[in-house]
Amino acid sequence: MAQKLAVIFGGSGFIGRYIVRRLAEAGWRVRVAVRDTQQAQFLKTAGDLGQVSFVPASVTNAQSVAAAVVGADAVINLVGILLQIGQRTFKAIHVDGAANVAAACARAGVQTLVHMSALGADAASDSAYSRSKAEGEAAVRLAFPKAVIFRPSVVFGTEDGFFNLYGLMAQVFPLLPYFTNSNPHAPEGGGASFQPVYVGDVADAMTQAVVDERHAGKIYELGGPRVYAMRDIVQMVNQATMRNRKIIGLPYLFAVPLNVLGGFLRKALHLVLRLSFEAPLLPTFDQMKLLKAGNVLSGAMPGLEAFGIQPTAPDAVVPTYLKRFRPVQQNKKIRTPARSKA
Ligand SMILES: NC(=O)c1ccc[n+]([C@@H]2O[C@H](COP(=O)([O-])OP(=O)(O)OC[C@H]3O[C@@H](n4cnc5c(N)ncnc54)[C@H](OP(=O)(O)O)[C@@H]3O)[C@@H](O)[C@H]2O)c1
Repeated sequence: MAQKLAVIFGGSGFIGRYIVRRLAEAGWRVRVAVRDTQQAQFLKTAGDLGQVSFVPASVTNAQSVAAAVVGADAVINLVGILLQIGQRTFKAIHVDGAANVAAACARAGVQTLVHMSALGADAASDSAYSRSKAEGEAAVRLAFPKAVIFRPSVVFGTEDGFFNLYGLMAQVFPLLPYFTNSNPHAPEGGGASFQPVYVGDVADAMTQAVVDERHAGKIYELGGPRVYAMRDIVQMVNQATMRNRKIIGLPYLFAVPLNVLGGFLRKALHLVLRLSFEAPLLPTFDQMKLLKAGNVLSGAMPGLEAFGIQPTAPDAVVPTYLKRFRPVQQNKKIRTPARSKA
């Protein structure tokens, strides 16, 4: 029997690469649909010769999306942004882009569509990001009612943008800040709550949703085994990086100067070094709203348990990849006894 074909929009990203590897291992042919296929070439070795292929496509371009899904049995759309730059707006990517993928799947007779949303997706949210994720879900449902929708909390893993950013901050700055509305010295002053979920668990669940039709039409919320206050997360990073930085709780008012500084840094780096970043250098106003709201499972939707997955705890994984932010002396200390033994 011919191998089935899965097309993964955003397959070269943080989460996408884990799903590409799992589907290839399960014997699927995988077509990675991204804007920059050169950057995605590292995924060639995820399968046998020719098992993983690449197609240039942008979810904002309906024609390229239609061409990318030709012959697909399953499609996964992982494309999302945290920062709006120029024409890359939340509406263009999360709403219109998601609608383009769903409509193309319906037209091409694709059997399964798996769509990535985010925990907190809510048409009435304060945050434009969360509103756009909810509008994207609605657009996907309209065009492809059987789509499986995933809403993960903040995702952690070797290539994540969240713990690694804090790791970098621990390496560079003498202080590690977090935001809180209460007295930071009080027990309730730990800031907003999060339920980080491991990228491997997210990829396992999404892969199962591709291969098992019983998930059709459902929405899943994915979170880790524990809820952490922001202060606990910063503390975890502090320990994992062995930096022993002073942790300070800042009122959300500080978001204003930080946001201005972030915008200034972005422009300066672009003008002077021609560097442009798609990830935020410092939290934007919209991210501040997300941070303030926190990101914890609502309990109203099924989660990892529906896939028989035991969630992985961050404390078991985060130190393994934040090691690189430890002081150099630490490595020396570890290496010295081994050398003297030889
Ligand atoms: N990471 C988290 O903590 C987290 C939490 C909740 C929800 N999510 C959601 O999960 C999804 C994946 O997140 P991620 O962290 O893996 O993202 P990521 O690392 O930023 O990867 C984004 C991927 O999308 C591709 N892409 C960007 N714009 C595109 C476009 N217009 N058309 C086609 N491909 C495009 C990128 O490749 P090119 O640049 O080459 O196109 C890349 O492969 C997103 O929808 C995100 O909102 C993530």
